[in-house]
Amino acid sequence: LYQMLPRDPSLPPLVFHWIPWFGSAAQYGQDPVEFFVSCREKYGNVFTFVLLGKRVTVTLGPKGNDFVFGGKHTVVAAEEVYSSLTTPVFGSDVVYDCPNETLMEQKKFVKVSLTTDKFRQYVGMIEDEVTQFMDNEPAFRAYQTSNTNEWGTFSVYKTMAEVTILTAARTLQGKEIRDYMSKGFADLYHDLDHGFTPLHWMFENLPLPSYWKRDDAQRKMTEFYQSIMNKRRAGNPDDYDDVMASLMVQKYRDGRPLPDHEIAHIMIALLMAGQHTSSSSASWALLHLADRPDIAELLYQEQVEHFGLPGGGFRGMMFDDLKKLPMLDAVIRETLRMHSPIHSIMRYVRSDLPVPQGLAAPSEDGVYVVPKGYTVMASPALSQLDPLYWKDANMWDPSRWLDASGFAAQARKQYDESSKVDFGFGLVSKGTESPYLPFGAGRHRCIGEQFALLQIGMVISTIIRRVELRYEGPFPKPDYSSMMVTPQQPCDILYRRRK
Ligand code: HEM
Repeated sequence: LYQMLPRDPSLPPLVFHWIPWFGSAAQYGQDPVEFFVSCREKYGNVFTFVLLGKRVTVTLGPKGNDFVFGGKHTVVAAEEVYSSLTTPVFGSDVVYDCPNETLMEQKKFVKVSLTTDKFRQYVGMIEDEVTQFMDNEPAFRAYQTSNTNEWGTFSVYKTMAEVTILTAARTLQGKEIRDYMSKGFADLYHDLDHGFTPLHWMFENLPLPSYWKRDDAQRKMTEFYQSIMNKRRAGNPDDYDDVMASLMVQKYRDGRPLPDHEIAHIMIALLMAGQHTSSSSASWALLHLADRPDIAELLYQEQVEHFGLPGGGFRGMMFDDLKKLPMLDAVIRETLRMHSPIHSIMRYVRSDLPVPQGLAAPSEDGVYVVPKGYTVMASPALSQLDPLYWKDANMWDPSRWLDASGFAAQARKQYDESSKVDFGFGLVSKGTESPYLPFGAGRHRCIGEQFALLQIGMVISTIIRRVELRYEGPFPKPDYSSMMVTPQQPCDILYRRRK
């Protein structure tokens, strides 16, 4: 009844719901993209829904993306929304447990250690890790035999999760973490990861084992990073040239070096930020390739053309090669378009926020105002799938990225150019009004973008060189029940060793 009473006309329309406090949590949680589409039909591009006691105003389309990503951080803040999830997992004083200016500095510290020179080293390391994995993993038994007629299966999401953590450990995390992976680090990671769920986000502390295990793993992991730093200092710190080594020598603008606990917590944040995002993207890419052997063949032929050796086999890839592989690039861009691992981007509204004309039909008073205390939410995942912008939007079609004058290539060009903008101090709202924002935009834009493209590209190339892939049965639907969108399980891919 309350929802039917006349409302303040400056408030965006409220999505009808039956249960107070719980609101539209079930519809949103089950399939956010479908929920947004059905709300847009009824209410337009701007509407508010109730999510477990919170009022969330969704702003859709490129202008809606701009509204959230391009907003001033003093007005729309990420930390109030994300901190209850991330701080217990990453640890204190980093990312969303510090002022936004400090996060910007921390992002810069990491970014300076993600250089082209490092990427050149990473290419061989990633290829090596994936090759070793395929040579030893029992799920790849049919590849390990010389019989090229035998088909085997592997669970793509499980496999990509393992490959992603191994390759990230070997490259970003450093030698010690990679060496410790089979000796306990993987278990700590799993306990931490089980505390990184929507439940832990909504309810900061419940008397459940996953909460204790999460806190215990966080403490032990921090201690482990601390012990690595101690050992490095006791030896020759110059022997190391990785992200941790770089963090150990950098200073905040006020001259303060990063304390060890902050370094440890930044390393954990990087591990968590890159894990599900990259593994889910690589899984979707392989699923599509298995489902479309014709496209997989084009990708394979691209590898043969560039790297094939006269007597058979391939030469190793170099970092600079990656830029010359349009098919591989298109496969990744298209996969990220259709399967954004993060479906909703949220900010807390710190002061009343007018919605610009042109984003929503104006209220009787002229404009909607999102009140202080609300959360605003954008969804590039939806605009990336919106037939308003994309031809055959629900079709996985990498070729749309190959036409340089086409819509996709233009959107991508604009997106790549806006990534060069420094997210430093006092910036940024460039490139935020676009339907294609797989790595976000503005000051919270992803710093792992180039690394992720490299990692996913190398994983796909290494696998596709060695095996043919097939997928049988209905294509898996997205699973929205965890923090990131993953393919619904089971999602087993058939493979056969290439002749
Ligand atoms: C931020 C996506 C991989 C580290 C973001 C954001 C998105 C995103 C959409 C913006 C979040 C927001 O505005 O609230 C992705 C995707 C990835 C990926 C799709 C892989 C396919 C990585 C990797 C790392 C990483 C590998 C680490 C090496 C970060 C960090 C932020 C971020 C530190 C900044 C958070 C902030 O400033 O609030 N990512 N990411 N990401 N990502 Fe990634």
